[in-house]
Amino acid sequence: MVLEGDSPTARALKASQVRPPSGRGEATQWIELKGARANNLKRVDLRLPVGRLNVVSGVSGSGKSTLIRQVLYPALREKLDRVTAKPGPFTSLHGAEAVKRVLSVDQSPIGRTPRSVPATFLGIWDELRRVFAATPEAKIKGFTPTRFSFNSASGGRCTACDGQGAISHEMSFLPDVVTPCEACNGARFDAATLEVRYHGLTIGDVLRLSADEAKDVFKALPRVAAPLECLADLGVGYLQLGQGSNTLSGGEAQRLKLAAELTASARHEPTLYVLDEPTTGLHLGDVEKLITFMGRLVDRGDTLVVIEHHPSVIGAADHVVELGPDGGEAGGHIVAEGSPREVAKQKTPTGRVLKSLFSDEDTRSRAAARRA
Ligand SMILES: Nc1ncnc2c1ncn2[C@@H]1O[C@H](COP(=O)(O)OP(=O)(O)OP(=O)(O)O)[C@@H](O)[C@H]1O
Ligand SMILES: [Mg+2]
Ligand SMILES: [Zn+2]
Repeated sequence: MVLEGDSPTARALKASQVRPPSGRGEATQWIELKGARANNLKRVDLRLPVGRLNVVSGVSGSGKSTLIRQVLYPALREKLDRVTAKPGPFTSLHGAEAVKRVLSVDQSPIGRTPRSVPATFLGIWDELRRVFAATPEAKIKGFTPTRFSFNSASGGRCTACDGQGAISHEMSFLPDVVTPCEACNGARFDAATLEVRYHGLTIGDVLRLSADEAKDVFKALPRVAAPLECLADLGVGYLQLGQGSNTLSGGEAQRLKLAAELTASARHEPTLYVLDEPTTGLHLGDVEKLITFMGRLVDRGDTLVVIEHHPSVIGAADHVVELGPDGGEAGGHIVAEGSPREVAKQKTPTGRVLKSLFSDEDTRSRAAARRA
């Protein structure tokens, strides 16, 4: 996406905000990958500051995904002794010890079955089961947290659908047809378990709440409410706690993964996250939310490497690396790098986009200063 002239996107962007520089200052640690030459890359030397928001931009086919996903990511994983595909060729990698985990937060599905749902993926489901087991009604019935599991045969799950809430019918030569379970009406639990209520809701009702609704119901429980707040912060507060993760869209799955990363903070180690075009399909408001959220990860010490065309994201970076000058064999070089303000001085596609982003912003702030 190159934003020239007066397209609707360009106009929408002019109305959007440019964030002030993050003020994070010069980084003290850098990851340095030298001599990357997979696909069209021409011995690229890449330097990325640790603990910063890095954005990799460039025209389509210039080599962004190749450099980050086929070389940097597997090379870092290999250095950390993690399972990985073999990295594309490169000469050396330094500075990897500054991160302890390397993770790609992509749009791939979270699970293939309805056994994983946002509530389980966010790690709040165990807490919710304890809440139900602690109600007076559950205590009278002798129900423990296990009773409120839909993934365990020893729980109180519906036996007709084995706690999946739906029944999958195999069709030869056709995709499976899924129909709601008639025994539990999709509630996933048996009748006795559904008699227990918390704030008037059964455990089946809770699975039908959206994250936005649930964070109000459980506001007294920060360990439940905080992760749900993250979903809202990312613009996916409408997701139901019990929606099968296999049915989430790519963008929803990616944002759920991000939310889970921010909430799994207890045992958190400095992590480098790779994201390839996370704004795909998001409208402007959600792009802004995503940028704010990525900033929270950076502020707790994580490193982000985001492949992105979106001017707002590039403008919000601490460090920009632009590949080019063209696609295919005519690409594979770094044509600009530095802070967004520095790159804005370059006569490259990203430089021009940033220049117009900043000049609009500067005009607006001068006008605001005159009014004041
Ligand atoms: N597995 C491969 N084998 C051969 N060539 C490849 C392979 N993967 C990518 N390429 C080529 O390498 C070049 C860089 O591709 P890459 O996917 O890295 O571009 P990109 O900058 O991520 O583009 P886009 O913005 O369209 O995602 C392209 O010319 C592409 O055709
Ligand atoms: Mg790509
Ligand atoms: Zn059922």
